[in-house]
Amino acid sequence: MITQAFDPAACALADLTQHIRETHHTYLRAELPLIWDLLREALAASPAARAEIRAFAQAFGQFRATLDSHLRKEEEILFPFVEQLERTRQAGMPSPRHGFGALALPIEILEAEHALGDRLLDRMRPIWQRWALPGDTPAWQRSLGERLIGLDADMQRHVYVEDAILFPRTIQLEEMPCSSAAGAR
Ligand SMILES: [Fe+2]
Ligand SMILES: [Fe+2]
Repeated sequence: MITQAFDPAACALADLTQHIRETHHTYLRAELPLIWDLLREALAASPAARAEIRAFAQAFGQFRATLDSHLRKEEEILFPFVEQLERTRQAGMPSPRHGFGALALPIEILEAEHALGDRLLDRMRPIWQRWALPGDTPAWQRSLGERLIGLDADMQRHVYVEDAILFPRTIQLEEMPCSSAAGAR
């Protein structure tokens, strides 16, 4: 567990991938099934709102499936390569070669999945914002609304750390000449 004054822009890339796994990926693996279960319970408990909950659950199901496969790609493919790249460059050796070419290629795919996730959140946001409104609303609406607001906030931070910090730093390190890479962070 990484603690105190964690700076994603200045830490080792291996610490950053560990932070993303432990913070954002662990959160999503717990939260996505929980929200799915709450949607199923809401469907059973609220016949009057069934059409809206079904439409929401369709977008949420697509979001969950996209994220499930996305997290696996990061943890099983990209992050281990990033960690290997950092070790190799710190040892003063050239960037390792991969079957798929430069790391920019898998990174482009992951960025496109972030954009898809964002579009799905945009589609769901007006509904959960209404569910979370204070007032005389059913408990399921309030509970789902609050959890989805938390999910949205975590996703914004998660995607920012990857798109704006991890991915550009990785591409920069891979392209760095050997003479400058040995002491690079
Ligand atoms: Fe991630
Ligand atoms: Fe990601």
